[in-house]
Amino acid sequence: MNLLPLLFLLPALLGLVPPMQVSAAPARQIHLLRPVMGSAGAAVKVKGVSCSSWQFGVETNSLRGWNTVPAGCESYFGHYMMGRRYREDSRAVAAAAAEYARGLQISSGGGKQIWVFDVDETSLSNLPYYSRHGFGVEPFNATLFDTWVATGTAPPLPESLKLYKELLSLGIKVVFLTGRAEEQRQITASNLKKAGYYSWEKLILRGNGALAHENALQFKSSERLKLTEQGYRIVGNIGDQWSDILGSPEGERTFKLPDPLYYIS
Ligand SMILES: *[C@@H]1O[C@H](CO)[C@@H](O)[C@H](O)[C@H]1NC(C)=O
Repeated sequence: MNLLPLLFLLPALLGLVPPMQVSAAPARQIHLLRPVMGSAGAAVKVKGVSCSSWQFGVETNSLRGWNTVPAGCESYFGHYMMGRRYREDSRAVAAAAAEYARGLQISSGGGKQIWVFDVDETSLSNLPYYSRHGFGVEPFNATLFDTWVATGTAPPLPESLKLYKELLSLGIKVVFLTGRAEEQRQITASNLKKAGYYSWEKLILRGNGALAHENALQFKSSERLKLTEQGYRIVGNIGDQWSDILGSPEGERTFKLPDPLYYIS
């Protein structure tokens, strides 16, 4: 008689390990997830859980005015941004936006329906830059960042580009609204085109001078107000910062893309 199977069964028979079940009850699944998710208490410390909680606070706009990603979270956010999860989170948002857009009655608007797109971390991705600068752990350096912007080589966020194309095919025009400076118009326009955003109704950048006191939320709200005063109907608005999508007029529906790397008020 072969005793091997019995040897494996013995601990289970003695109640030392839970019996394996193909169709495990939800309670058991939660139990098995506890150590993985860090819910098993202080006895089981799991790397990245506090970074994940911080991320939740950021994405829900509960944590505000922060300057850098917490020290120790560089690797967590490196994995998040460069791995599948960032793309999947972006896809969940962009797909919901596309579904909403398909449900709109566009034909009756006289070509005045627009969708507002932010640029950085919405239309274009600065991951090539942030991957070399600590994924938000390093303090922001405007000089270095502007040097990167001047290369005009930022790739598109693929999910946003897909949404952009679908909106155009539905007859919705796109307006890019960015906190980038007016001096960066040429390079931003050529970067957008290179990335696949081949046409737009307007590209609105931040002028200098009188508006310097405004934060991004005030600047973008006032520009959206101008658009509505020009007769446009903002059917959608997408950005990675809460300051892209808060502030009246927000647009008829807003969509928040993930961005745990920096905060703009
Ligand atoms: C930004 O980076 C440049 C080049 O490394 C450096 O000379 C400058 O001091 C940095 N600025 C800030 C504010 O850290």
